[in-house]
Amino acid sequence: MTKPVPASPSPAFPATRMRRNRQADWSRRLVRENRLTPDDLIWPVFVEDGTAGETPITSMPGVSRYSIDRAVQAIGEAKALGIPAVAIFPAIEERLKTPACEEAWNPENVVCRAVRAVKEAHPDIGVICDVALDPFNSDGHDGFVRDGVIVNDETLEALCKQAVVQAEAGCDMVAPSDMMDGRIGAVRRALDAAGLQRTQVMAYAAKYASSFYGPFRDAVDSAAALGKAGKQTYQMDPANGDEALREVALDIAEGADLVMVKPGLPYLDIVHRVKAAFAVPTLAYNVSGEYAMVKFAAAAGAVDGDKAMLESLVAFKRAGADGILTYFAIDAARAID
Ligand code: PBG
Repeated sequence: MTKPVPASPSPAFPATRMRRNRQADWSRRLVRENRLTPDDLIWPVFVEDGTAGETPITSMPGVSRYSIDRAVQAIGEAKALGIPAVAIFPAIEERLKTPACEEAWNPENVVCRAVRAVKEAHPDIGVICDVALDPFNSDGHDGFVRDGVIVNDETLEALCKQAVVQAEAGCDMVAPSDMMDGRIGAVRRALDAAGLQRTQVMAYAAKYASSFYGPFRDAVDSAAALGKAGKQTYQMDPANGDEALREVALDIAEGADLVMVKPGLPYLDIVHRVKAAFAVPTLAYNVSGEYAMVKFAAAAGAVDGDKAMLESLVAFKRAGADGILTYFAIDAARAID
């Protein structure tokens, strides 16, 4: 039902004119409610072995997988731009992917070597590692697969081993992205038992089974292994909102230092509800498919890429996010500069 249109302007008009504050640039700046700064940004970086330097990811224009030395250099640029932290994701050689995922807790895997190299070169940029089995799993899933079922509790043991080697390599924060039940508490206990009380835990608390992860699965090379299988038995149903609050409540109770909502733009209602309900550090992930949409639309001349980027990112702030994981981090930090 559409509301009837009032025949005359509201009684507040003409005394109240919303356009008055908008008429000049200085005034718009003065009344602006939210501001994006480099401090809000976390830059996800893909690393791979070898000396290729850079392998462009065709479904994410402008994003490449970096060899470790190139990643160290690029992260130096991020640091110089004032970006507080980076999140490292590996692309693992096919021959190292197995159903038992042993490479995930090999202290010499490409993630751990990258973390050591980055922390040695740039000790004061935050380094975050993803905790999940998918890059290492020949089944492409975030957990172990037994008879077609993703098994929860066995996966937890593997995630704990993975988190501990990453933290021992020197990462500052581990970020379980697997959506197994009980993982935040299990990882926290494992870290503490290993004397790693200082390692922060960021929970991918409300993570949805989303089609917007497509380009990421190209980037970490897990798309082929996963095939047509989906992650709906562990990631959330995009139709649900209240359930996200239960997920976040559990992760906070289990010891998460920060919580995250993922994907970002289609889920800003969830970001807003989480921040309002829990008042804890709340991040949002502007995921690979969201990035690709802006890039491809800009390349087709449909939108101004830089403006669409900045508009998207400030929308996260308006929704209540304290920080944003985004492939735009470098471009955005430069644009803010
Ligand atoms: C995997 C993981 C995914 C992303 C971050 N960690 C993909 C997935 O769950 O399939 C997605 C990031 C992005 O799309 O940018 N544990």
